[in-house]
Amino acid sequence: MTSPVTFTLEATDGMARRGRIDTHRGAINTPAFMPVGTAGTVKGLYPEQVRETGADILLGNTYHLMLRPGAERVARLGGLHEFMDWARPILTDSGGFQVMSLAKLRKLTEKGVTFRSHIDGSAHELTPERSIEIQKLLDSDIIMQLDECIALPAEHREIERAMELSLRWAQRSKDAFAEAPGRALFGIVQGGDDPELRARSAAGLQDIGFHGYSIGGLAVGEPQEVMFRVLSDLTPLMPQDRPRYLMGVGKPDDILGGIERGVDMFDCVHPTRAGRHGHAYTRFGVINLKNARHKDDHRPLDEASPNPNCRRFSRAYLHHLVKAEEMLGAMLLSQINLHYYQELTAGARTAISAGRMADFAVETRNGWARGDL
Ligand code: GUN
Repeated sequence: MTSPVTFTLEATDGMARRGRIDTHRGAINTPAFMPVGTAGTVKGLYPEQVRETGADILLGNTYHLMLRPGAERVARLGGLHEFMDWARPILTDSGGFQVMSLAKLRKLTEKGVTFRSHIDGSAHELTPERSIEIQKLLDSDIIMQLDECIALPAEHREIERAMELSLRWAQRSKDAFAEAPGRALFGIVQGGDDPELRARSAAGLQDIGFHGYSIGGLAVGEPQEVMFRVLSDLTPLMPQDRPRYLMGVGKPDDILGGIERGVDMFDCVHPTRAGRHGHAYTRFGVINLKNARHKDDHRPLDEASPNPNCRRFSRAYLHHLVKAEEMLGAMLLSQINLHYYQELTAGARTAISAGRMADFAVETRNGWARGDL
C-alpha cells in the first residue's frame, strides 16, 4: 500500500517554520521553493539539473497539460513523472488561475468554467470534479482544489463572491478526491486583501478538512506590504500541523518575507522567466546581464558561490550569450536563478533550526542591498 503524505513540523523560530513533507516519491524539506514545470518541463533544464539545484518537488499545470498533450494521453504514457522522467514529487495547480489569465472566451458558472484554448481555440470545460480527475490522471502527488482567483484591487462584494464560490468548489473537490492513497489534497484560501473574508475562507476550509492549505489570490496586483499584512493576519489562523503554500510567489524578497510570516511552500515562474530575459539572481541582488557594463568584465558572477556555473563563466561571456540570444544564455541563467532560490530556502531552513532566522534575514537583505559592485 502506498504510504500517505505526511507533514512533520521540525522547528519554529518566531513565525517561521522548518518542516518536512514525506511522500512515497521522496521528502520535501520546507520552507521549499518549487520550480515551475508548466508544460512537463522546467524550461531550459534537464530534470537532473533541476534536482542538482536542490529542488525536492516540481509544479505542473492542469491547464496546459489538459490542452497539450492531454491528461488521458499522459496517463496512458505512464503519468507525468514517467513522461518527463522526474521521479520525485509533483504538485499540480488546478487550472482555474491559468484559465483566467490565459484562456479565451471564459465563462464562469456555479458548475465550473468553460473556455477556449489559447493554443488552438478548441472548447473545454473545467469543473472541480474534472480538475481532480485530470490531476489524478497526471499522477500528481499534491493536488489543488479548483478555485477562483481574482485580481486586486477589487470590490468587496466581488472578493466575497469568489471566496464563497471557491469554498463550495473546495467541498466538491474534496468529495471528488475521496480516498486517494499516496496523494494529498490542498484547499486554497481566497478573500483578497480583506482580513475578515480571509478568516472565513480559512475556517471554512478547515471545516472541510485538507492535507494542506494554500494561500491564493496574492501577488495579483497588490503592493508587497498588503501581501505581507494578509499573510501576517492569516497564518496564525491556519493549522500548525499542515503545510502552508503561498501560490505563485515570488521574487527572493517576497519569499524571505513569506518564510518570516510562517509560509512553508512557494512556486513561481520568475526565476526561469527572469533567466530567459538576461537577469541573474545572486547573493548580491539581481544582475542585468544585458547591460553593456558587463561587456569586458572578466569576473564570474560570484566566485564564492556553491553553484559551479556562477564560478565558471565570466560576466562578459554571459553578457555575450544574452545579447546574441544564444540558448545557453537562457539555460545557464535559469539554472543560476533556480540554484539561488534553493540556496535561499536551504539557508532559511538551517537558520530556523538554529534559532537565527532574524539574523539570516538581515544578512540576506544586506547582501542584496550591497549590490554586485
Ligand atoms: N497561482 C497563483 N495564485 C493562484 C490562486 O489564487 N489559485 C490557483 N489555483 N493558482 C494560483
